[in-house]
Amino acid sequence: MQPFVDVKNLRKLFGNFTAVDGVSFSIGKGEIFGILGPNGAGKTTTISTILGIEKQTDGKIVVDGLDNLKHPKEVKQIIGFMAQETIVDSELTGRQNLALGADLYHIPKSEIPSKVSFALRESQLEKFADVKASNYSGGMKRRLYLVKSMLHEPKLLILDEPTTGLDIQNRVQMWKDIRKLKADGVTIILTTQYLEEADALCDNIAIIDHGKIIAQGTPSQLKKMIASGNVLEIITKPENVEQVRKMLKAKFGLNSTAVNDKIEATVEKSPLDTFQRILNALKSSKAPVLSVSLRLPTLDDVFIKLTGASLRDAEQKADASQSNKAVR
Ligand SMILES: Nc1ncnc2c1ncn2[C@@H]1O[C@H](COP(=O)(O)OP(=O)(O)O)[C@@H](O)[C@H]1O
Ligand SMILES: [Mg+2]
Repeated sequence: MQPFVDVKNLRKLFGNFTAVDGVSFSIGKGEIFGILGPNGAGKTTTISTILGIEKQTDGKIVVDGLDNLKHPKEVKQIIGFMAQETIVDSELTGRQNLALGADLYHIPKSEIPSKVSFALRESQLEKFADVKASNYSGGMKRRLYLVKSMLHEPKLLILDEPTTGLDIQNRVQMWKDIRKLKADGVTIILTTQYLEEADALCDNIAIIDHGKIIAQGTPSQLKKMIASGNVLEIITKPENVEQVRKMLKAKFGLNSTAVNDKIEATVEKSPLDTFQRILNALKSSKAPVLSVSLRLPTLDDVFIKLTGASLRDAEQKADASQSNKAVR
């Protein structure tokens, strides 16, 4: 079966800077596809080319059988888009925002009231329909923006970091809304910096770093890439890190990584039994142990394995380098 979205060898240069460097993926109809990566990885640029906001330097994009360069208008009509920054007019009420949106999507005038009412119901904003959006909470504005992006009933919805900056409660609500849209048959692309989010929502994920896909697969395939086993995590004092790592290697043949005071190793064989023996070995060693745990691998482990840095660390570095740039 032909994929619903097919992206091949996508490249985007800004001047001589390569923001997207040979990205390929395909998405089946009705799937949620996640583009996971730190700040500056090239997520927004990738989706901007699919949307036609930016023109690709190279590569092919086909949405629902339509080439984006040959049929830009048709491709746009198929897509609903929610940008990272919430775009609603604070001076207008929820209802007015939606009516304006519907007009911009060229929805026939006679259909606008029913579409707007439906959107207000879906977003549970009926009670606040005639209140100015300036009085809405961040989460309410986000929900209004989401249903606004869906007014023209697009087959493909693109969400750029839909939950960045939302508190937990609103994030959970957004996840529910996204799952409901999937259940209604909408194909969804979402970008995220959150491993948990990609893991929880996506059928397939591309992990992107410096404009390149460094791994691609289902959440469980990606987790299996790092190991079939469990992840052992030991937190000790920084001065004891090397001692503990040597012990893990000598007694258990385990290769470990260390970030500050946190040591990690993958335990492949009979993890519970090995865990027990490691606990005993730690007890007999003099190293002070602040915490020991054994867990299933997460997407963060995949990222560490592939890039040598945790996704969180990579983000901080990107933030730091951007603020350095601003200072210079
Ligand atoms: N219009 C632009 N001009 C120049 N550089 C850009 C432009 N847009 C993005 N970039 C750069 O391209 C890289 C990828 O950016 P972006 O796609 O926004 O990353 P992400 O969405 O993953 O945070 C960054 O280094 C960013 O500074
Ligand atoms: Mg972005």
